[in-house]
Parts: sequence; structure tokens; C-alpha cells
Amino acid sequence: MGFRRPLAFFLLIAVPIALALSAPPPKPAAKPAPAASSSAPASSASTAAPASASSAAQEAFAELEAVPAKPGDPKAGQAKAAACAACHGMDGNSTDAQYPELAGQSEQYIVTQLMRFKSGVRSNAIMAGMAAPLSPQDMHDIGAYFAEQKPLPGVADEASVELGQKLFREGDPARDVPACMACHGPDGRGNPGARYPQLAGQHADYVQKQLQAWHDGQTWGTDPHAQIMPTIAQRLSEAEIAAVSSYVEGLHTAPYPGNAAASAPAPSAAPASSAPAGSGR
Ligand code: HEC
Ligand code: HEC
Repeated sequence: MGFRRPLAFFLLIAVPIALALSAPPPKPAAKPAPAASSSAPASSASTAAPASASSAAQEAFAELEAVPAKPGDPKAGQAKAAACAACHGMDGNSTDAQYPELAGQSEQYIVTQLMRFKSGVRSNAIMAGMAAPLSPQDMHDIGAYFAEQKPLPGVADEASVELGQKLFREGDPARDVPACMACHGPDGRGNPGARYPQLAGQHADYVQKQLQAWHDGQTWGTDPHAQIMPTIAQRLSEAEIAAVSSYVEGLHTAPYPGNAAASAPAPSAAPASSAPAGSGR
């Protein structure tokens, strides 16, 4: 369903950018095979990991990622997601901007973040507690449920559209700021196989908080994937962060659920981009 992506686009645009941004090249497959997962953190040690990201947490994250799990079952996920409704909304549309929208977010991205919270590489006290009892299979089921929900469209602030749009569509090559859409997609729907999140409709306040925190030194781990956003956000000014945050909230994506209808035909030469989590869907 939602996992066949415009791979050609990804390979042509997103991969070169990702390579340029992080010293140890992230694998396009994004999800390291169990055998490879132990070597990834080791090779990133040379990128001077921030002291706050403990290597024990990073190891715990790699271990969670290596646990085999079946593609998520949205029905099972719906029941397990009841615990999330108070903050994220029953259908993943949260009404309070401090709680991110999960509706339409990809299973792979949700799973990765729950593993980041549970291991502690992404530090948030509330979510650490919520993720602690979840098994990797629970995470996949919950992710599959939210991925099927329809996100409510948001609205951008008129005053910041021009600057926000410029950054989102063109970036600022002079300062090595890549266009956000190179990874997050022209309509902000993200790229599930690569675990680039959907940004369309996400609360501007939440987006702004994350970008500012990355700008100020936050990381979500020491793996190469987690270095991408800090590297970019460090190059943005406060005004730019505010503008692009508002802009992405106003982006609308094409038909849901499934999130795939409007995307380019999926190439068959996909280098296992959705394995092991998404292959059956
Ligand atoms: C008491 C409120 C609360 C509850 C209940 C809660 N969350 Fe969260 N959740 C948050 C907050 C706050 C954040 C933002 C954390 C941050 O700033 O890094 C968050 C972030 C997330 C994210 C990251 C989203 C993104 O876009 O990066 C995921 C995934 C998530 N929650 C899933 C869940 C799931 C699944 C459950 C139920 C098992 C749940 N949450 C229950 C408050 C809550
Ligand atoms: C090279 C690919 C790439 C580019 C370009 C890129 N991003 Fe990201 N973005 C990512 C990845 C990967 C993540 C998930 C990080 C993680 O899991 O550690 C992410 C996550 C995010 C998040 C967190 C969303 C959430 O739900 O928590 C925001 C906000 C974001 N990006 C905004 C931007 C903006 C704004 C730009 C342009 C200035 C941009 N990104 C450019 C790859 C990219």
C-alpha cells in the first residue's frame, strides 16, 4: 500500500543530498540488516558524537531495530493505539499543537521513532514511558494503523509563505541548505522506505520546536540517519525556521489512505528499500 515510493526520485535527489550531509553514507535501504547494524554506530564514531547521546542508548536502539517483525497489522494496531488517543487523537489527528500529528505518517517512520524513544536516543520523558511497554511488533501494528488514517489539512501563515516556500522548494545552495522537498517530497508526504517523515499538515509549533532544538544541538542518536536534520537545522536562522514550519503545516497531500496513489510508479529495481518491515504491503 503505502510503501512503494518514487524510488528513482529518491535515488537521484535524496541520496546524493543525504550522502553529502553525513560523513558515513547512510544506506538507501535505511533499515540496516541485522548483520550490518552493529557496524553502523561504530563507523559513525568518527563524526564526533555529541556527548549527550550515550552509546548504551545507541546500542539499545540498534538491538530494537534488529528484532525481526512482521509488517504491521492495522486492526491489531487500532486496539493498541487506544493508549495514544489522549494526546495524539484516536485517528492520529491531535488537537493540541504540542502533540505531533500521526495520521498518515508512515509505519516505518513511526516505528523508528518509537524505537528512538524506547532506547533513549530521542529523549522525551512522556514518550519514553509510552514506548517502554511496546514490543517491536506492537510498534509496527500501531504504525500501520496511524499510516492508514487521514490527516486533517492545516493552514500556513500568509506572511511567511514566500520565505517558507523558497526554503522548502529550493533550499539555499549558497549556504549548503538543501531543499526540504528533496527528501520530504514536493507535497510534504515524506518517503516511507527511506524513513523521511510526512511534514504536510504537521503542527507548525511542533515542527518549529524540533527544528530549533536541532539548531541548538539536539540529536536523535548517533547513527548517520540521525545526523541529517541537525546538520540542516544548524544552517537555518530563527526566522527561516518559523517560516518553513508554518509553510509545511499548510501543505496538502493527494489522496489518502494509502498515500501512494499520486506517486510515481514504483520501480522494480528497488534495493530492498522497504525490507524487512514493508515488503508485504
Ligand atoms: C501524554 C501525552 C502523550 C501520549 C499519551 C502519547 N504521546 Fe506520543 N508524543 C507526545 C509528545 C509530547 C511528543 C513529542 C515529543 C518530542 O517533542 O520529541 C510525542 C511524539 C510521538 C511520536 C513522534 C512523532 C514524530 O513526528 O516524530 C510518535 C511516533 C508518538 N508520539 C507515538 C505515540 C504512540 C504510539 C503512543 C501510544 C502508545 C503515544 N505516542 C502516546 C505525547 C504523547
Ligand atoms: C537529506 C534528506 C532530508 C532533507 C533535505 C530534509 N530532511 Fe527533514 N528529515 C529527514 C530525516 C531522515 C528525518 C528523520 C530524522 C530521524 O529519524 O532521526 C527528518 C525529520 C524532519 C522533521 C521531524 C518531523 C517529525 O514528525 O518529527 C522535520 C520537522 C523536518 N525533517 C524538517 C525539514 C525541513 C524544514 C527541511 C528543509 C529545510 C528538511 N527537513 C530537509 C531528512 C531530510
